[in-house]
Amino acid sequence: MTKVRKAIIPAAGLGTRFLPATKAMAKEMLPIVDKPTIQFIVEEAINSGIEDILIITGKSKRPIEDHFDSNIELEQNLREKEKFELLELVEETIGLNLFFVRQSYPKGLGDAVLHAKAFVGNEPFVVMLGDDIMDDEVPLTKQLMDRYEKTHASNIAVMRVPHEDTSKYGIIDPEAQIDDGLFNVKQFVEKPEPKDAPSDLAIIGRYLLTPEIFEILENQEPGAGNEVQLTDAIDNLNKIQRVFAHEFKGQRYDVGDKFGFMKTSIQYGLKHTQVKDELRQYIKDLAKDLEAEDNEKAIEEIEEVLKEKVEEEKNKKQ
Ligand code: UTP
Repeated sequence: MTKVRKAIIPAAGLGTRFLPATKAMAKEMLPIVDKPTIQFIVEEAINSGIEDILIITGKSKRPIEDHFDSNIELEQNLREKEKFELLELVEETIGLNLFFVRQSYPKGLGDAVLHAKAFVGNEPFVVMLGDDIMDDEVPLTKQLMDRYEKTHASNIAVMRVPHEDTSKYGIIDPEAQIDDGLFNVKQFVEKPEPKDAPSDLAIIGRYLLTPEIFEILENQEPGAGNEVQLTDAIDNLNKIQRVFAHEFKGQRYDVGDKFGFMKTSIQYGLKHTQVKDELRQYIKDLAKDLEAEDNEKAIEEIEEVLKEKVEEEKNKKQ
């Protein structure tokens, strides 16, 4: 059996949910406290035993390549000033087995994955999306790799989401649970409305795929949003070989939209050695102020209603 050694990280999207910040900057470089989101993904790959990583980049994505390259001037400066802790942080992201390819037009996630065909060759591989940061004792990518060792088949990470949110995700129609948290899948459906959703199990940003996916992607017409959808290709792969769904039970931080990004920043800030105490105190004080503000507003509203009632009574008596 071929070992899973390669991961691809598609990062060529336009990041429209973060405009105008992403007009000239890659959304994958937006930091959670002090670490760009893409670094969390690269670390998960390495902690899972992945050897080679291909990042699919596009326009305004040069900073991603620079982030994982050496910066001799900066390193020299930190060395001279004896800022060795910072130097260590800067050097952490150098010397990894990273490769880059450009997707010229953002024609969809499926098209981005197709750009990895030559890199992947005839091996199983992992696709990791930067919109989701995962936290669990065993990294999610490793969980998928362990499933592959047993099933020798593609498996896709899924997680339960609130029913009203199904239209934001690819959703699976599970057939049977064949092992704890491992499902056979009847169908993969891209972003169904809640009334049409076959389950609440949503595809989250980690996929372990066999190389047969490339032939499917090459022959696939654009789907929803006129983009080549990876979910459609996975659904077709499932018709010719087994594709399992693996339920993730750890903590998922959705950093793909503004509110999710803000929540994640706060949660990570509360664990960050340099800022956690100050941030905790700040949140507590802020919560008190907001509570007092809300109470004041509520009292004002009650006073307004009472005033109207008194006025009404007065008018009635006249
Ligand atoms: P998203 O739809 O979440 O990313 O795609 P986006 O298009 O950058 O963001 P919004 O929706 O406009 O705010 C999921 C992942 O697939 C990559 C994105 O970079 C993101 O990591 N992607 C998407 C590509 O690499 N190429 C594409 O053509 C589309």
